[in-house]
Amino acid sequence: MAPNLLVLGGTTEATALASALAARGLSGTFSYAGRVESPKPQALPLRVGGFGGAAGLAAHIREAGITHVVDATHPFAAQMSRNAVDACAETGVPLVALTRAPWRPEAGDDWQHVPDIAGAVAALSGERRRVFLAIGRMHLEDFATRPQHFYLARLVDAPEGALPLPDCAVEVSRGPFTVEGDVALMQAHGIELVVSKNSGGTGARAKIDAARTLGLPVLMIDRPALPVRAEVHEVQGVIDWLAHTGTDLGV
Ligand SMILES: NC(=O)c1ccc[n+]([C@@H]2O[C@H](COP(=O)([O-])OP(=O)(O)OC[C@H]3O[C@@H](n4cnc5c(N)ncnc54)[C@H](OP(=O)(O)O)[C@@H]3O)[C@@H](O)[C@H]2O)c1
Repeated sequence: MAPNLLVLGGTTEATALASALAARGLSGTFSYAGRVESPKPQALPLRVGGFGGAAGLAAHIREAGITHVVDATHPFAAQMSRNAVDACAETGVPLVALTRAPWRPEAGDDWQHVPDIAGAVAALSGERRRVFLAIGRMHLEDFATRPQHFYLARLVDAPEGALPLPDCAVEVSRGPFTVEGDVALMQAHGIELVVSKNSGGTGARAKIDAARTLGLPVLMIDRPALPVRAEVHEVQGVIDWLAHTGTDLGV
């Protein structure tokens, strides 16, 4: 049977996967949550916006005749990943996750691990520091309970209004980021501490390497727990998985 894939995206790896699938002539749709104003174009047809929970995703799978779901979302997109597991279980459609290993500290790194955003906020209870809040747009307001700090927020889109942080600067950029660029950015703002999610992968790593270069501490937010599902770590792993499920790859 010819596959009709649904790729849940929002990551560099999802984009690479879409290109690889399209290059093989495989059919499918690429799904974005719709968090940024102008999402990157993709090699597969796009759909944008939530499905309406696990039930909505299951309905979409049925209505669109989806044969396989690939969860290539960010490791912190835990709700979407849970919904994908539930919807695929309900519809009997096979699911694979394209995941990346978390970053591990290297010699010279000074990381304090926190379990979640609330843990990062709690860890910032002390005296004023100049903080690079490299966590995206969501959850910035959580840091309003720690107004004593200066915050540098890096965002894909310019915020519509003022951020809820009394002393802050916004850097609008979607990358790609380089270590040299992030060293310069942190120096320009006199950054003393970096707050980062443990995203893994190469796309967002520059700030971690830059922090090491500058001898700065990192508040590292550990990943949320995700449900057990089939997982691969390379784009080719998804192709191999498709073949394994008996899919006609047309080769
Ligand atoms: N969290 C991060 O740090 C981060 C970083 C980089 C990129 N991203 C990307 O940004 C998107 C949103 O992340 P999040 O942390 O807000 O997710 P989340 O908390 O797990 O998802 C919240 C809701 O957003 C919708 N959604 C999420 N990903 C979607 C997708 N690819 N296609 C359609 N709907 C989606 C779903 O809505 P319904 O329940 O209505 O279906 C989901 O229940 C994801 O695609 C993720 O890959 C996230």
